Amino acid sequence: MFKYLCIGGNEPRLIAAAMEQLNTLPFFHSFSNCTTKPTLVLAEELLGMFTANKMAKVFFTNSGSEANETQVKLVWYYNNALGRPEKKKFIALSKSYHGSTFISASLSGIPSMHQKSDLPAPFVLHTDCPHYWRFHLPGESEEEFSTRLANNLETLILKEGPETIAAFIAEPVLGSAGVILPPATYFDKIQAVLKKYDILFIADEVICGFGRLGTMFGCDKYNIKPDLVSLAKALSSSYVPIGAVLLSPEIADVINSVGSFSHGFTHSGHPLCCAVAIEALKIYKERNTLEQVNSIATRFQEGLKAFSNSPIIGEIRGTGLILGAEFTDNKSPNEPFPPEWEIDAYFGAQCEKHGMLLVIDDGQILICPPFTMTPDETEELISIFGKALKATEERVQELKSQKK
Ligand SMILES: Cc1ncc(COP(=O)(O)O)c(C=O)c1O
Repeated sequence: MFKYLCIGGNEPRLIAAAMEQLNTLPFFHSFSNCTTKPTLVLAEELLGMFTANKMAKVFFTNSGSEANETQVKLVWYYNNALGRPEKKKFIALSKSYHGSTFISASLSGIPSMHQKSDLPAPFVLHTDCPHYWRFHLPGESEEEFSTRLANNLETLILKEGPETIAAFIAEPVLGSAGVILPPATYFDKIQAVLKKYDILFIADEVICGFGRLGTMFGCDKYNIKPDLVSLAKALSSSYVPIGAVLLSPEIADVINSVGSFSHGFTHSGHPLCCAVAIEALKIYKERNTLEQVNSIATRFQEGLKAFSNSPIIGEIRGTGLILGAEFTDNKSPNEPFPPEWEIDAYFGAQCEKHGMLLVIDDGQILICPPFTMTPDETEELISIFGKALKATEERVQELKSQKK
């Protein structure tokens, strides 16, 4: 149940598009004002599809990590071009995941990725993870929690000096962190603070993009108006490696005004990858993927959230076709089971026994089924989850009684 292969694992049209491109032009580079037709067509398609804010240019990468790496260089280049070389720091969210390269791992708010790797880079700051269940104060409403987090962000900006902060990066829904949905009014309040201090918003749509949340992009769902966007994964339904950065007209104009941006990868805009991505986008449109996602999302979410009252589940959360579940004792975010009990791994093994593979990470279960999941498969998924949960509840009882 992974966040890849959104169109399913056996789509003949994607395979045919790849074969056709390989037979036509297997490769040409995109340096020095050269490129290929599929690269241009895909760029046009993406600019037309992303409507949360107007975007003017596309830069292709081979992955989501490279997209986020590129974002930082673009933003630095932009601020240098504007004559404000001191405006260079980035703010990201604690627990977020933005990739594994030097800068993208620095942006990621995951201490285990930083320890022993000399990360994060000194220009990266982290602010609160917007996980209401885990971090709200007693009696604090979602809106009050959002206000507090926006105030904390503003305090951080003022402490560092607004003239030093270049950009803020966030996933609309934090995926790898365990599917953290933004609390009510969160992005409205965050965007107001960023606007006040002339700080760019980078939306990392690597997981949320192309329908995962039931809207074409996560920005559409949460009324985010980004200046820059990172894309990957569903862009090609993971059949081929490709990522992309979208740039607003304002940023593109400033960058163009000072000459060419010296940055690129041999395989940026690879015609094979672009041809497959063009076909994936066509399929999303022709098959009305959003309708498809929304038609199964309600049952998927309600069916799994019905297990929230299990004594070993802390929280089940999600939207569209992404859902996270967290094992804790006594419904408390502060009472994880002893790590040596390996409750999450036990649950995963139970699911596997019944034919379902899950992403399991540090007490968290991640479920991101393909957009093509049928109603029958949805029922099967819910049923397997229920069976595995029951077996895991029994296992916890057994371990607790051994402890006494
Ligand atoms: C939100 C987000 N950004 C960036 C990345 C990195 O993408 P890639 O693995 O293609 O480098 C990921 C990967 O899971 C992701 O979830």
